[in-house]
Amino acid sequence: MEKMRATVFHGKDKIRVEEVERPRAGVGEAVIRVTLTTICGTDLHIVRGEYPVRPGLVIGHEPVGVIEELGAGVTGYEVGDRVLVGAITPCGQCRACLSGQLSQCGHGEGYEALGGWRFGNTINGAQAEYLLVPHAQANLAKIPDELRDEQVVLLSDIASTGIGGAESAGIRIGDAVVVFAQGPIGLCATAGARLSGASLVIGVDGDSNRLRVARQMGADVVLDYREVDVVAEVRRLTGGGADVSIEALGTQATFESALRSLRPGGTLSSLGVYSGKLQVPYEAFAAGLGDHRIVTTLCPGGKERMRRLMETVRHGRVDLTPLLTHTYSLDKIAEAYELFGERMDGVLKVAVRP
Ligand SMILES: NC(=O)c1ccc[n+]([C@@H]2O[C@H](COP(=O)([O-])OP(=O)(O)OC[C@H]3O[C@@H](n4cnc5c(N)ncnc54)[C@H](O)[C@@H]3O)[C@@H](O)[C@H]2O)c1
Ligand SMILES: [Zn+2]
Ligand SMILES: [Zn+2]
Repeated sequence: MEKMRATVFHGKDKIRVEEVERPRAGVGEAVIRVTLTTICGTDLHIVRGEYPVRPGLVIGHEPVGVIEELGAGVTGYEVGDRVLVGAITPCGQCRACLSGQLSQCGHGEGYEALGGWRFGNTINGAQAEYLLVPHAQANLAKIPDELRDEQVVLLSDIASTGIGGAESAGIRIGDAVVVFAQGPIGLCATAGARLSGASLVIGVDGDSNRLRVARQMGADVVLDYREVDVVAEVRRLTGGGADVSIEALGTQATFESALRSLRPGGTLSSLGVYSGKLQVPYEAFAAGLGDHRIVTTLCPGGKERMRRLMETVRHGRVDLTPLLTHTYSLDKIAEAYELFGERMDGVLKVAVRP
């Protein structure tokens, strides 16, 4: 039995890089040798015991790699092809997938909320030397030769999510957009708003380094929520309220501010992961008569999504490499978790090289 090194979750605050069995590709599956991956805020929730996964699971869900083995029935690929795989791996065949709701892929049939999220959630994940890719035909996206791993690794999750938040909002050319929180997800939402044709993009955070990067990613104006009344300022800058508010943190305070910043008929696009109770104050909601829309987005995945995002990078529409602030080897991933979790040294995302 061949072995590999992998990051294994052993319970709250316990992850270890250790030898585990190397996966083999079954029918419809592929194994990739991971060449670059990263750590997501959601991995922090897992390690802190805030999102339950089974002990013994290999975590991580943002893989770039090289095809090592192709299972029976996977066609159009060669061993050695460089591929990007989305964090979400839809089957491509169930009712949800064929209805265009790939992230809510049903395991078997129908729909399942969060169902498309498998890596480091229901099956072994990407913070390892090798990764078994399920439904490989639907999920292996070949990387154009001219793109380096560092240029595409963030497309797997945070950029697909952040840009997805702008797309779900249906931003129109000329819209004024405010993005609450400029963490990795919010920064990608800012880039997405810019890509979607917003005429004004306002980024909100309380971290001056992140506000600086927000400008780099496409914000025209940045607001520090510790210093200004953000809702009043957004209403002033937009002449009565934003067309679109994107929520990228997952708290009552930012959700509420996002709603209060909207003009009547505006759209709140929510990306954050919430816990406990989320309340909608009736007056911010015009008692339900404000023609508001509230939409949510789970990171879009699948090979066509990855192809489109890679084309966007290849043609120079967006550059995510400023977000990759640190690099670690897989063996040092515990240090990377600490840096990322404590937000030390201006970290935004860490590149992890198995
Ligand atoms: N929808 C999805 O598919 C998906 C995918 C991945 C992550 N997420 C969620 O997205 C959210 C953001 O993730 P992240 O990794 O960017 O988070 P992060 O923790 O790195 O960043 C959060 C940012 O919010 C800022 N902040 C704190 N309070 C604020 C306030 N009141 N107003 C404005 N900004 C404030 C912080 O300074 C920080 O920069 C999380 O809830 C995460 O779980 C969703
Ligand atoms: Zn993630
Ligand atoms: Zn499916």
